[in-house]
Amino acid sequence: MYNSFFKLHSSPFGTSPDPRFLYMMPHTREALACLEYGISARKGFTVLTGEVGTGKTTLLKRALASFNNRRISTAFVFNPRLEVLDFLEFVLADFGIQPANRTKSGMLLQLNRWLIERFRMEETCVVVIDEAQNLSWELLEEIRLLTNLETSSEKLLQIVLSGQPELEEKLRHPSVRQLRQRIALWCRTQPLTENQTHAYVAERLRLAGATRPIFTGDALNLIYRYSHGIPRVINLLCEHSLIVAYVEQVQEVSAELVEGVASELELETQPFLISPVAIGGSGRGNFGETSGLMTAFEGDTKGRQDR
Ligand SMILES: Nc1ncnc2c1ncn2[C@@H]1O[C@H](COP(=O)(O)OP(=O)(O)OP(=O)(O)O)[C@@H](O)[C@H]1O
Ligand SMILES: [Mg+2]
Repeated sequence: MYNSFFKLHSSPFGTSPDPRFLYMMPHTREALACLEYGISARKGFTVLTGEVGTGKTTLLKRALASFNNRRISTAFVFNPRLEVLDFLEFVLADFGIQPANRTKSGMLLQLNRWLIERFRMEETCVVVIDEAQNLSWELLEEIRLLTNLETSSEKLLQIVLSGQPELEEKLRHPSVRQLRQRIALWCRTQPLTENQTHAYVAERLRLAGATRPIFTGDALNLIYRYSHGIPRVINLLCEHSLIVAYVEQVQEVSAELVEGVASELELETQPFLISPVAIGGSGRGNFGETSGLMTAFEGDTKGRQDR
């Protein structure tokens, strides 16, 4: 709609998790490296958590895309509100395996044989489960059992669980302590700082072909205050601001214009509820113990919160 008015070749602030737009901040780089390492080093369980709209799905897609030229098979479960049988059937189908019969034991046997075959071909097999905060307890337990598919030295199946802070809460529950003990790597996304918000908007505009800032510095400060650094909300505010600027035929987005948009969208500048889990400690991913890579959750969360 406004692209030609602002001399852009594409829409800069789409809300889909398009990995081509991934802007690398230190925590993004860290989380991406954590995901890539967890998968390629066959660590078994890797977890990615972060507040709503902070880029988890975008990051997962980017991590999988980075293995493009390597031997990897992936199954991507984007809606895990499934019964156990449906889940297994979905995973098999996404790996390209036609289930011979729809029983749990039958599908597990078939998966195991297929994984061994892939392992011999030096291929890494990954199941990525997005929105994993929605997993039922029963399915979580089944997923844990999937990591029992292993050779004497290596996991045959890598599992990435990604979800909102509720997933962290869920994984703290005593009933899933066996699974928790198996988490080898824990990666996190987080909201952007004010400076990062400025740089993020500039980068998305640049990728869409902009040759000038379009937003004033004050407008960007306000975008940060209303979005609290959450990329999805930043996109929403920027998109609406550009539409309004286009409708009013102004070439620059001012703070006043953003103020009007934020009030239309009923956004508040007061911090909304971001659980302490999401921003726990430094808010950074637990990626970086002395060896450079974090170990697991180590059975409890205290050390992590204190870090
Ligand atoms: N580092 C980043 N660089 C560029 N765009 C980003 C980044 N992080 C998030 N975004 C953008 O923010 C929006 C929300 O990202 P995404 O859907 O990946 O978040 P999410 O954490 O998976 O959200 P949810 O918790 O609702 O599943 C998308 O438009 C995405 O492109
Ligand atoms: Mg998501």
